[in-house]
Amino acid sequence: MNKLILLALAGTVLLGATLLLVNHKRVSNDVPITEEVIKQWKQYKLTYNKKFSDPDQEVYRMEVFAQNLEVVKNDTTGTFGVTQFFDLTPQEFASTYLTLKVENAEEAVHDAESNTDINWVTAGKVTGVKNQGQCGSCWAFSTTGALESALILAGQATNSLDLSEQQLVDCSSSYGNQGCNGGLMDSAFKYIKVSQLTTEGNYPYHAKDQKCSQASIKAPLYGLKGFTDVAKTTSALQTALLKQPIAIAVDATNWSYYTGGVFSNCKTQLNHGVLLVGVVNGNWLVKNSWGTSWGEKGYITLQAGNTCGLANSASFPTE
Ligand SMILES: *[C@@H]1O[C@H](CO)[C@@H](O)[C@H](O)[C@H]1NC(C)=O
Ligand SMILES: *[C@@H]1O[C@H](CO)[C@@H](O)[C@H](O)[C@H]1NC(C)=O
Repeated sequence: MNKLILLALAGTVLLGATLLLVNHKRVSNDVPITEEVIKQWKQYKLTYNKKFSDPDQEVYRMEVFAQNLEVVKNDTTGTFGVTQFFDLTPQEFASTYLTLKVENAEEAVHDAESNTDINWVTAGKVTGVKNQGQCGSCWAFSTTGALESALILAGQATNSLDLSEQQLVDCSSSYGNQGCNGGLMDSAFKYIKVSQLTTEGNYPYHAKDQKCSQASIKAPLYGLKGFTDVAKTTSALQTALLKQPIAIAVDATNWSYYTGGVFSNCKTQLNHGVLLVGVVNGNWLVKNSWGTSWGEKGYITLQAGNTCGLANSASFPTE
């Protein structure tokens, strides 16, 4: 059945015909696969280099895509658009990417009148945006990002420093981390304090769980003195940020739709680890680990306040 539909779709496109059965075909949740959807789907596949060898799979993924397009259509905030995650259902997205293992933290108090602008990216103290791939290792990227910045600010490294997330994924399970199934920045800081962390060059990222390779953990090694949990207020977060970038936990449930602008369409169920790197025009600037084609070249701007719960579970390493 689905194969026939796909053939019909392909035929429609090839012949340039306008009114075949596709316009009338209703899919799950009653989202129609219109010519416009097909056009955007083709563009999506090109943009993100998505390939589907199984036609049934492709039809199903196009239906999911159509449902995600409906969410964008209904958006009134102007921050939603098509992203690389549009062939995933919200449930699939959450199970792969929203894996931070944080106990639901007490809600932070929003007590800052206004934020003071600071931008660690333009100051040259933030390393490049990375991509965690299909592995729930956000916590490892938040950790390396925070440590890389702390080392640069302490004069112990340049901003070409690239620390190993894979070492954290593979080797920090005795501190409570679960590799690609999730983890916590503070647990990673505890591990690094004892074991130190090597570079990406020595221990490269493969976006999957592996056995810990002790042989790869070799010089140059970077450590930390300790780490500090930021008090649960937006003013304390601002004060901490004026010294260095901060590892934060957020509710990223709707981030799969984010393409730019000041975002606030979220609650505070913490499920993702990222790096707070600045305040721009009073709003928070955050570095993510979903590559540079996501959001604002890999970054997201969060509205001032405790948006997405960003002040509920913040911490930073000390050198
Ligand atoms: C979009 O809005 C319409 C009209 O309010 C509503 O019926 C529909 O369920 C919404 N769709 C999504 C995916 O939010
Ligand atoms: C995600 O965005 C939708 C659509 O704007 C909104 O209705 C919903 O409350 C948001 N969900 C969360 C968890 O923030």
